[in-house]
Amino acid sequence: MTVNLFSPFSLGSLSLPNRIVLAPLTRMRAGAGLAPVPLNATYYAQRAGAGLIVSEATQISQQGQGYVNTPGIYSEEQIAGWRLVTDAVHERGGRIFLQLWHVGRQSHPLLQPGGGLPVAPSAIVHEGVAITQEGPKPLVVPRALETDEIPAIVEQYRQGAINAQKAGFDGVEIHSANGYLLDQFLHDGSNQRTDRYGGSIENRARLLLEVIEAVLPLWESKRVGVRLSPSGSFGGMSDSDPQALFTHVVAALNSFDLAYLHLVEPRIDGNVTLDEPAGIPTPVFREIYRGTIISAGGHDKDSGNAMLAEGTADLIAYGRLYIANPDLPERFRQGAPLNPYDRDTFYGGDEKGYTDYPFLEKVQSA
Ligand SMILES: Cc1cc2nc3c(=O)[nH]c(=O)nc-3n(C[C@H](O)[C@H](O)[C@H](O)COP(=O)(O)O)c2cc1C
Repeated sequence: MTVNLFSPFSLGSLSLPNRIVLAPLTRMRAGAGLAPVPLNATYYAQRAGAGLIVSEATQISQQGQGYVNTPGIYSEEQIAGWRLVTDAVHERGGRIFLQLWHVGRQSHPLLQPGGGLPVAPSAIVHEGVAITQEGPKPLVVPRALETDEIPAIVEQYRQGAINAQKAGFDGVEIHSANGYLLDQFLHDGSNQRTDRYGGSIENRARLLLEVIEAVLPLWESKRVGVRLSPSGSFGGMSDSDPQALFTHVVAALNSFDLAYLHLVEPRIDGNVTLDEPAGIPTPVFREIYRGTIISAGGHDKDSGNAMLAEGTADLIAYGRLYIANPDLPERFRQGAPLNPYDRDTFYGGDEKGYTDYPFLEKVQSA
């Protein structure tokens, strides 16, 4: 039988009832102490019908924060807040991974410990903004990490992975996409280091691989995923040879027997769809990667089913459609119309545009 969005899938020891993934989605609605609150638990529980939920990006330290009101996973209060979320998802029969996040240069002194500079592979600024408590602020020239500071960065990921376990997550996803710290190290436009974390592709990939190695003793390998955006320029990413870079990185991931490789499609840049997609298509990576692939970006029901049927991906992640349709799998199953999403309420605010999107009316069974 042809594989489709409703074919079950075994992700290591996890049995996914369908192949629909809730994409990681920053919503900037954490509570005091940047800890999740009951409203966040309601939002995730509403979407527990997904085969797998990947949480919003969650900073592993204050230094890793680049937007106001994003949740953390570095304090007891935050762990307790996330426990509300994981319990609510599990009560509804769902599964949830935590996305481990360090924004690197995509931050601002207003968000940094002691008002310091954000850290990065190199002191190269990107013309973007950080969303601070005083509103959007242009990014500043970051401070290049010293070589002897890198182990402490790896340690932040390790501690984040421990804390994710304490909070009851089913696994973790290492965020190495969309122009954040690990992606900044990968790309030579943002990484001009001359130590063993810069220069050659092997050196630029070193930090990501060290982070994976730090996390793996804590979690079964099949509970750890990695997200990459090989075609994205979000966050000012550029590279002299992205194909060589990402084929190397993806090949290197083979040795870890991970839960999955989560790829953002070329037609997406961060959180917007491009008119003219450019970049490295997912089939290139399918040829290289021997494990499970999640494809994300611009999917509807038909494109998801088509990719699964042709075998290019194993699971399909939905972002914006899932924001607006808490019962997305059920709507796909029934061929029901979808609620449109409201971009104005994506980031920050309250339940409006968060937990108040309508569910399908219960359909009469024939
Ligand atoms: C509101 C919003 C927040 C996002 N936050 C994250 C995030 O926290 N981590 C991440 O890796 N990607 C994030 N993304 C990217 C999505 O995971 C996804 O790759 C993108 O939306 C394309 O998928 P879609 O076309 O199904 O929306 C975000 C996108 C949107 C629209």
